Amino acid sequence: MEAQTAIKVVALCGSLRKGSYNRGLLRSAMEISKSIKGMEIEYVDISPLPFLNTDLEVDGTYPPVVEAFRQKILTADSVLFGSPEYNYSVTGPLKNAIDWASRPPNLWADKTAAILSAGGGFGGGRSQYHLRQIGVYLDLHFINKPEFFLNAFQSPAKFDSDGNLIDAATKERIKASIPTYASTGDVLAKDIRWCIEQLNKNVLAHDSNTVMKYIGDWDRDPRCFPLGDFDGAIITMGSIPRFPMYKNDFGWGKPFAVRNGWANKFDGKISATPGRNGGGSIDLEVVFALETMAALEFDPEFMEYVLGY
Ligand SMILES: Cc1cc2nc3c(=O)[nH]c(=O)nc-3n(C[C@H](O)[C@H](O)[C@H](O)COP(=O)(O)O)c2cc1C
Repeated sequence: MEAQTAIKVVALCGSLRKGSYNRGLLRSAMEISKSIKGMEIEYVDISPLPFLNTDLEVDGTYPPVVEAFRQKILTADSVLFGSPEYNYSVTGPLKNAIDWASRPPNLWADKTAAILSAGGGFGGGRSQYHLRQIGVYLDLHFINKPEFFLNAFQSPAKFDSDGNLIDAATKERIKASIPTYASTGDVLAKDIRWCIEQLNKNVLAHDSNTVMKYIGDWDRDPRCFPLGDFDGAIITMGSIPRFPMYKNDFGWGKPFAVRNGWANKFDGKISATPGRNGGGSIDLEVVFALETMAALEFDPEFMEYVLGY
């Protein structure tokens, strides 16, 4: 079986100053990530990069320091930005670094990204929305939620004079911001065990503190969960404390099958329940729209497999 490879994340900070709060957030994320199996975050310093000038590009090659930076981006799976807000936007140094790695071939394409920011009133939020906009052109996929903004100047103090994060509540928020990533290429190239381990990381991350935080957030900002509104390209895992269906005893013996109604059904939904045959077996309920079902039934290759088992 293929050995598990860790997801490689590069952390980039838009501030160059020594005591940067945003770099402090990245340091904290790196510290937290040490307890997350299968994820490695490497800090990459953008300060040695020269100002972008296409005259520095010679026959499609870049200055050595730029080549070294581009290599870090090339070999990363994901990017974690510490993005301060300068005049309602991203900082010059960060934009410069992004531009260097966007030169041909664009190295940001198809990577996943997340942002941490500390700043004034909006906690650096406006820089994040500009950064997301840049990502559209670069094909860099930013996760939508959770968003992480931190007002660095509100009491209680969040950072010490070296820019180290000292606020325990903020550390907990960063912890909740580290989701599990897998590109389509990874899912197709690696085995099922690897995929399950990625999902398992998220399950483990949902400890009681995280769940209580979600409940608190929902109290403050209630939303409806759009169960049937997926875009067809994501996997969402849920859980519900269902009763053990096959164990219901109405005096008629053990149920032969379970029939469900329309509730919560949508194209592509798969539910797994403890199997009727016991012994650790699993029964799958797979829901398809009528047209998907019809298409499958008319697919001889698919039907050959279905009927063969
Ligand atoms: C040129 C400049 C522009 C700034 N503009 C903003 C701004 O638009 N919004 C904001 O919240 N803070 C702004 N700030 C304050 C920064 O958020 C603050 O300096 C922060 O600590 C910078 O991040 P760092 O600690 O990682 O260096 C600005 C700071 C500088 C130097």
